[in-house]
Amino acid sequence: MSKTMKSLVLGIETSCDETAAAVVEDGYLLKSNVISSQMEIHRRFGGVVPEVASRRHVERVTSIIEQALDEAKVTKEDLSAVAVTQGPGLVGALLIGVSAAKAFSFATGVPLIGVHHIAGHIYASHLVEPLRFPLVSLVASGGHTELIYMPEHNRFERLGRTRDDAAGEAFDKVARVMDLPYPGGPHIDQLAKEGSPHLNLPRSWLEPNSLDFSFSGLKSAVINLLHNSEQRGVKIEKADLAASFQASVVEVLVEKAVRATRMKGVSELVLAGGVSANSALREALAARCQEEGITLRVPPLNLCTDNAAMIAAAGSYRFRDGQFAGLDMNAIANLPLA
Ligand code: KG4
Ligand code: ZN
Repeated sequence: MSKTMKSLVLGIETSCDETAAAVVEDGYLLKSNVISSQMEIHRRFGGVVPEVASRRHVERVTSIIEQALDEAKVTKEDLSAVAVTQGPGLVGALLIGVSAAKAFSFATGVPLIGVHHIAGHIYASHLVEPLRFPLVSLVASGGHTELIYMPEHNRFERLGRTRDDAAGEAFDKVARVMDLPYPGGPHIDQLAKEGSPHLNLPRSWLEPNSLDFSFSGLKSAVINLLHNSEQRGVKIEKADLAASFQASVVEVLVEKAVRATRMKGVSELVLAGGVSANSALREALAARCQEEGITLRVPPLNLCTDNAAMIAAAGSYRFRDGQFAGLDMNAIANLPLA
């Protein structure tokens, strides 16, 4: 990190089902981190309902911003910039944060910055200990599964991505067919501890050396296995199914993350996103990184899941590089990273 950078950045995040605002000083010092989760509201629908999410963001965003400024004990005049998630995400949800940030910028004269949500996830680690470059990051959440290479601050190269479902999405969909509550990831994680991963489920490697992911085939294999066994009257232990499914996801994530670091010749691997909470993934990745001489960084859980501190941190380096947005900035559901 540039030692000379002085900044105080307000971050805003509304890309999915958390309304969040935070203040970060000099790119890494967390001054406040306010998150209002909508999980309880969406649980009864078994997933995030975009319209409901947008409406809830509208109700909450202004007071969450005020709270973040209050808790950080800063005034609008102290701020260097307001950074907001521009994409990717649910377009209606993103729009609420982008509109709030634009209004804030217009009313106060504080410059506006658009941040890519995945860049934010990687910067979550920077709030704990400065990132060391070059690095590779595995970002695995409900919406994304990506491998990103960063040669230095604020420069990103995508090495791989999911071609269909994200890892967290696969966890949630499989949990749903197993009658587990939303979001299913943590429930599968728990259940898997009591099971054995002996059921034969596919590993989706794609083409040799590909760093892309695909989890929808695995999800279908789980559903088929359940249906076939029901038809034949054979009972499958749910714990074994959870363990076998999880083992397949973890094996592919670990192998491709390690492959990416080797391909780029780097020794820093940063795990990010909600799926980082998975105990089997953490264990397997830690063991494998130790064997390979790779330094693994896993931020604490409250920074792995969606928050605005990571957006403010990533935004600080765009501020450093003078990458400001105009008031015509729009939310972009499939915003590219580079
Ligand atoms: O990063 P995040 O909070 O939101 C998105 O940006 O999507 O990630 C949420 C995802 C959900 O799919 C959830 O099931 C998954 O992370 N997740 C887990 C675990 N905890 C959360 N997946 C597997 N094991 C866990 N322990
Ligand atoms: Zn996210």
